Amino acid sequence: MQGLCNFARPAVWRCGARRGWRKLAAMPVYEINVNGQPRQVDAPAEMPLLWVLRDLLSLTGTKYGCGIGQCRACTVHVNGAPTFSCQLAVSSVGSSPVVTIEGLAAEQKEPLVAAWEEEDVPQCGYCQPGQIMSAAALLARTPRPTDADIDTAMSPNLCRCGTYNRIRRAIHRAAEGV
Ligand code: FES
Ligand code: FES
Repeated sequence: MQGLCNFARPAVWRCGARRGWRKLAAMPVYEINVNGQPRQVDAPAEMPLLWVLRDLLSLTGTKYGCGIGQCRACTVHVNGAPTFSCQLAVSSVGSSPVVTIEGLAAEQKEPLVAAWEEEDVPQCGYCQPGQIMSAAALLARTPRPTDADIDTAMSPNLCRCGTYNRIRRAIHRAAEGV
């Protein structure tokens, strides 16, 4: 499967691993709502929300893992639902509110982010913004999740460091408000 991060880029943009997206000509303007703020971005219609966030809005907490919808490192909330930002074109966002890890951390320092800190969850940390975004969505719909609920909701979020047991404990801690 070809991911949106690998789509055929218009000639007016190019992407480099270190330089990010570079605008080479006039682009359509999209107004999207990110972390409660209206933001205007010049972008090709098919540009993934991930790169809009990272390269155009400097919200680099959302991570690029696979680019093909397989790892969930890029998870953000769109209309409150956990969403792969690497697979959502900016033209499809519309008026749906987008929340990134930066917005969530500002809103939910307690108890979710605090539980992550208490359980010392991260190892390398790369997958953790996506993990926290998925955990927040789980707790919003299931305030007291069972182990099975957690495993079902979190299993698509891959962690190469194997922090799964600490993630489970942190979600239980956040659910208990301790
Ligand atoms: S970077 Fe989006 S799912 Fe892996
Ligand atoms: S903490 Fe390293 S990939 Fe998850």
